[in-house]
Order: sequence, then C-alpha cells, then structure tokens
Amino acid sequence: MPVPDSMISALIDLNRADDEGLVAQLTSQLRSLIATGRLVKGRTLPSSRGLASDLGVSRNTVSYAFEQLAAEGYLEASHGRRPMVAVDGGERVTEAGAVASRIRPGKPRLSPWASSLTQTDWPMSYQARLRPLRPGHGDFREFPNEVWARCLRRSAVRAARRELGPVNRPRLREALAHYLATSRGVRATADQILILPSAQAALTLIAAAVITPGDDVWVEDPGYPGAAAAFRASGARVIGMSLDEQGMQRIRGLAAPTLIFMTPSHQHPTGRLMSLSRRTEFLGLSRPGKTWIVEDDYDGEFHYDSRPVPALQGLDAHGRVFYVGTFSKVMTSDIRLGYLVIPRAMVGTLEIVQRHIGLIAASHIQEALAEFIADGHFLAHLRRVRRIYHARRDHLVEGLERHLGDVLSAEVSPGGIQLVARLKRGRADQVAVKRLVEAGVETRALSGLALGRPRDHGLLLGFAAWRESEITAALRTMASCF
Ligand SMILES: Cc1ncc(COP(=O)(O)O)c(C=O)c1O
Repeated sequence: MPVPDSMISALIDLNRADDEGLVAQLTSQLRSLIATGRLVKGRTLPSSRGLASDLGVSRNTVSYAFEQLAAEGYLEASHGRRPMVAVDGGERVTEAGAVASRIRPGKPRLSPWASSLTQTDWPMSYQARLRPLRPGHGDFREFPNEVWARCLRRSAVRAARRELGPVNRPRLREALAHYLATSRGVRATADQILILPSAQAALTLIAAAVITPGDDVWVEDPGYPGAAAAFRASGARVIGMSLDEQGMQRIRGLAAPTLIFMTPSHQHPTGRLMSLSRRTEFLGLSRPGKTWIVEDDYDGEFHYDSRPVPALQGLDAHGRVFYVGTFSKVMTSDIRLGYLVIPRAMVGTLEIVQRHIGLIAASHIQEALAEFIADGHFLAHLRRVRRIYHARRDHLVEGLERHLGDVLSAEVSPGGIQLVARLKRGRADQVAVKRLVEAGVETRALSGLALGRPRDHGLLLGFAAWRESEITAALRTMASCF
C-alpha cells in the first residue's frame, strides 16, 4: 500500500543507542520501504529539511541518506528538488537484476514496546553457569527435590481426573492467602491472588493494565532495573527517587504519579527497610485514587536479626496496592512461579488481561505447589534455609572485613539474599566487576543500578547461593584482584 507523505516519518524508527549510526539506520529503513513497494516509483519524498524536522535529526543526516540511496539507484535526486523514488519495489525490483543485487533487508521493525525493552541493560547478560557471588539467587542445592518430585508426580497423576479448571488454581490461591496473611501481614482473599510465571510477569501485567503512554511512574534510584524496564516499555515516564536511611524519598513538588514502584521490606539493592512514616506518606499519596503502589516483596521471607516488618499492603485501607511475590528466591530460580495480589477493584479485570497476555502458570505445577505448602514442606524448607543463609550472610560480612577491609565496607542488612559492599575509595565499581568476572567471581556494580547519575559505588554480592567455603574462596580471589 502506498504510504501518505505524513506517514513516512512514522514508519521510521531511529535508535540513538544503536551501534549502527543514524545515517545507516535511515538509509536502510528507506531502502526497505522502497524495496517492499511502500514507496512506489515516481513518488516524491519529503524535503531533507522536512523529514529531518519530523524525525528530530539533523538535516545532514537525511541528506547523506538520500545521497547514498541516489548512488544506489533507488532515488533520483537533483539539486533544489525533492528526491523521487527511481525504482519499483517488490517483485519488480527483484527482477531488475542490477537493483535487486543491491537490496539488503533492513533491520526488522520493532514496536516501541520491544525497542524499549531491547535498549535496557536487563536482564543482565550473565554467563549461563552460576558463579560465586552472583546476587539474586538462593541455593538450589538446598531445595528438597525429592519431596518436590513427589508433589509433582501426584499432581501429574491426578491431572487425568482434574477438570479443565480456572487458570489460577483455587487450592494454591487459598494456601497463599493463608501464608501471606500469617507471615507477611497481607490482607487479601484468595480471589485477589493471581498465579504467574514470575514476579517480572506480574510487573508486565500491571504495566499493561494501568499505564497509559506518558504517565509518570516513580521508582527507587538505585533500584530494580526489571521494574523500570517494564514500565518504560509501556510508555511511562520513569522518574527515579533517591534513598535515605528511611528508604525511598519523594521529590517535593512533583504531582502524584500514576504508579509508584517500591521494595519497602528490603530495598533492592541497598537492603534498607522503609520506615513506617515513609510508608504512611506514600499510602497517603495514593489515597485520592489516582496513584497505584506496587510493592515488590521479592525476598521478604528472609529476615535474620529481628522479626520481619509486615508488608505495606496490609496497611492499605483504600485498595491501591499491588503486592508482588516470587518463588524464584525461596524455592529455586528456575521454578518460574510468582504471584500478584491485586486490589479488590481489579478482580476480574486483571484476570482478563492475564488470559490475553497468556501469563498463566502450568496447572499441575500450581497444584503441586499447593500440596507442598499445605503439607508444611514449604515452611520447613524456609525455616531451614533461613538458618543457612543467616550463617552465610555473617560469614560474608566477616570475610569482607578480614580479606577486603581496606577496600570495601559491607552494609549488613537484616535480611535478604545479597548485600552491598561500598567502595571505600574511588568510583570504579564497573571496572572492578569486569576484573572480578575474569577471575571467576560475579558481582554487580551498584552504579549500574542507578537510573540517573550514579550516587552509589560498590558491589552487590550474593551470599545465599554459596557455601561458606565457596564464599571464602571468592573473597580470596577478590582480594588478589584489588
Ligand atoms: C527486586 C526484584 N524483583 C523481582 C525480581 C524478579 O523475580 P522473578 O525471577 O520471579 O521474575 C527480582 C529478581 O532478581 C528482583 O531482584
């Protein structure tokens, strides 16, 4: 179909972050519009000035692209006139030997959503093999695989008798509602719980359901990159809020956003706990009914020094909080199960969105997990790994002091599966991370988790997934690198 003049710039998608320069991108995209017959022979293109202004690039960028396409025979250009398409696209171009040989397919055109996701540094491009001290993981070697296998087997056998039931299995919803109420202070009935393949899926679902392009979303800075990526891809303007000892702090004077994302129980990555007064302040902001809060309680099960602080969701009297959780930390990373507790007013609507996006977890795994929880295996496992991870955290903190006390200072957080060690001198955490990876130790640079200009420089170190001997070996390697 021929493309109207006003649409040409809308069909072009230039990415300033791409290694390929703007001229090369524009040339290849115009070439493919001609080759596919969307710009037909004889068609005049906009002037270089007009197209440059529509695309927000310099006039030279457009002129160079036109010159290149003229040299290749796709355009006829003469001084002072708008360039004209010189060949027919589609099959006729292919038949015209000389031109066909020059046609190279352009890069696939992506939606704004996919282009946004491909431009973020998330998920991290880690090596496939898990190496010490990669943050964000529990120890899958400690997981009771035999017990889990029995639950899976029973669930699979029962599947033959099971009716094709709801996508969110009632037994698991009930078991989770009970667990979350007693252990995290979450106030919800079973029908408010959606079972999803991960916490990240929950963030994607929320973004799809409540974000209109241009909406403001506040996130913690430094914070969890997966959340910023999901909201930005939906067209949100993501604004970072810095942290103090009480957790995320709002920038005064900014109008309340559509959504605030936070990790109040154990801030990712600093491990800080959000104070009660801050929680109340943010809840107050959400009360008029415009602002949603997303509470990501990704590792709230792990607390070592004191009783855990209940979830913020339990304080919400006005139904404005989404509560996100995952089993990838507390069971194994590859179990691929998470959940989302939704405000009552969203029951029904969000299940429809869930079905359309297809973020549905396998029924037999949901049933197996319901049994694993109901029979007490989940809590038993949790109690056991909590003890183990507590000892590993202490071991890492002591080891950091002993082996790297002059370069790093550990921030001991009361829970979680990873901790921050700040650089005592300098800001070169990204350089340190590179050097450590080459030596076999995986960490994450704190500055890489900043949304704006990084204020924090240090390393994020995982401790839960590593035995004490592995932690000591990693620390010795680190000491030799610094
Ligand atoms: C703060 C935070 N939220 C959510 C997630 C994602 O969890 P899942 O693996 O269930 O997507 C992570 C994973 O590292 C995380 O650190």
